[in-house]
Amino acid sequence: MTLSFDALAEQFDDQRGLPANALRHLVAFVDGIARGRTLTIVEPGIGTGRISLPLAASGHRIVGVDISRPMLDACARKAATLRVEERVTLIEGDATAIPREDDSCDVGIFASLLYLVRDWEGVLDELARIVRPGEAVVWIRERTERGGALALWDVNWRTRVETAGFRHQAASPTEDEILAALQRRWPDVMTEPLASWTFGQSVGQARDGYGERLRSLYPAIPDDTWSVLVQDFLHWAETSFPDPDGRLDGQVMLEAVVA
Ligand SMILES: C[S@@+](CC[C@H](N)C(=O)[O-])C[C@H]1O[C@@H](n2cnc3c(N)ncnc32)[C@H](O)[C@@H]1O
Repeated sequence: MTLSFDALAEQFDDQRGLPANALRHLVAFVDGIARGRTLTIVEPGIGTGRISLPLAASGHRIVGVDISRPMLDACARKAATLRVEERVTLIEGDATAIPREDDSCDVGIFASLLYLVRDWEGVLDELARIVRPGEAVVWIRERTERGGALALWDVNWRTRVETAGFRHQAASPTEDEILAALQRRWPDVMTEPLASWTFGQSVGQARDGYGERLRSLYPAIPDDTWSVLVQDFLHWAETSFPDPDGRLDGQVMLEAVVA
């Protein structure tokens, strides 16, 4: 099953928005690649424009492709609010078949996309076709490290889910597979740290509506099994994390992997 972002369009930025400082570093990094030029940047899987719209605000032209109409609509609304809509072209379509000419863009950029696409190497092939030779393809990578409390919370939940007979799928492609695939197409790949920040929530916030928030991720679990699973987990969580103001935090490291 492919995860659809249609229902998530309105919440995506609240949940996954990047801190202002991280965006500043991201924009400065791409401006550095531009060396004074106005770039035409293609972003397959542009979503709400979290990555590309700040680049449009910095003067670059954006070609964004996404299979989700609601995500593109949210992106268009944001582009209008930022008054950059004239520099942003949005295309509803698949990242493995982007309707652009060969060598028609200066930079390709992607983030949080390849694990959603069965033919993920096809996305890289499209970028290799569309981005002019000698220019950059940039993978914006968000690495997370969970703190001790959050790690314990997650492991306990995942173990319970698996004991109920549901198998979590390992992330595919892995980061190493993506790096190797980039290197096969562009031999010089380097990684540049952009920013790092703490993410997380209080125990009370995590407990609140836990079952409802996670339900759509586990469609294979029947409703009655799900209710028991969530109830047992929340009971464990209340015992193990009695302070609702306790924190479940981790660290995000934002990096640009440039090919
Ligand atoms: C997790 S969001 C990330 C959005 C954006 N890249 C960002 O980092 O903010 C993934 C986006 O990829 C889109 N997507 C998934 N599969 C796709 C495909 N085959 N072609 C184009 N877009 C796709 C989804 O609709 C969603 O908007």
